[in-house]
Formats: sequence, C-alpha cells, structure tokens
Amino acid sequence: MRRRIVVDGGIAAVALGGAGLLLGSLTATIVRKKPRPVTAGAPAGGGGTVSAPADAVPVGGSTAVQDPATGDTVYLVQPEAGQYCGFSSICTHAGCTVDPPKDGQFSCPCHGSRFDAATGAVLAGPAVKPLPRYTVSKSGDRLELGPIQQS
Ligand code: FES
Repeated sequence: MRRRIVVDGGIAAVALGGAGLLLGSLTATIVRKKPRPVTAGAPAGGGGTVSAPADAVPVGGSTAVQDPATGDTVYLVQPEAGQYCGFSSICTHAGCTVDPPKDGQFSCPCHGSRFDAATGAVLAGPAVKPLPRYTVSKSGDRLELGPIQQS
C-alpha cells in the first residue's frame, strides 16, 4: 500500500512537471516577441504608390508610412533641408518597433538601442546593425517611398 502511494505520487509529480513544462513553453511562445527578419532590398512602395505630403516632414521631423511589402512602419525624415530618406522602424537587435525620431535619434524601447536619425547608424547597442534605409523621392509636394537601399 505504501509502495503504491509512492508510485502514484511519483507519476503525479511527473505529470505535473510535464504540464508545467508544456505551460511554460506555450507561455513563452505566446509572450515572446518574435524577431522579425529585415528584408533588405525588398520592393517597397508598390511602384511609388506610398506617399506623404512633404510638408508633414519638417527638417529634423518625421512622418510614418507603411511599407506595403512588409506592413512595417517606415519613418520618413528630412535630416537636412531638401534631403529626404526613410528608415525602417524595426529594430535590428530583436525586432521591436523603434520610436519616432526625437533629438536626432531613434530609440528602441525594448533594450535601449539608439540609432542616428540622419543615417540609421547605431549610436548605442545592443543592436549592431543600422536601421535599413529607404530611398525617398520628392515629386511636387509629395514624398514617395522607394526601395530599401542595399548597405
Ligand atoms: Fe531594440 Fe533590443 S529589440 S534594442
């Protein structure tokens, strides 16, 4: 009888442990932010159909558009008068969304990486790769999103 209790208790402990592992695994799968691959060179703009008013992007400011190829947010910026470009909002460390530029920098809320808002270069890690940069052209009073530039 005592042996039966020990065996049954052992089986119950193993079953509970297994259930705990399964629950832990499922929780980690649901909660974890899945790193998102950056698709350098992917077409964007669907033939230049993504655009924004140029006056929405003052020097040092930004506006957000969506890359139709990935659905990711792209920040259009004007670092210097008349010079426009775009940067992916997807942090190159682990795929979180960086905040819009402020004081010349993009900041990632997840682990604190910072990127230069004029070049996309890493200013502070843990990220080691720059933010992917998009070509942006001005047509009249509109800015059109082009492809990601190869680095
Ligand atoms: Fe941006 Fe880690 S995901 S710093």
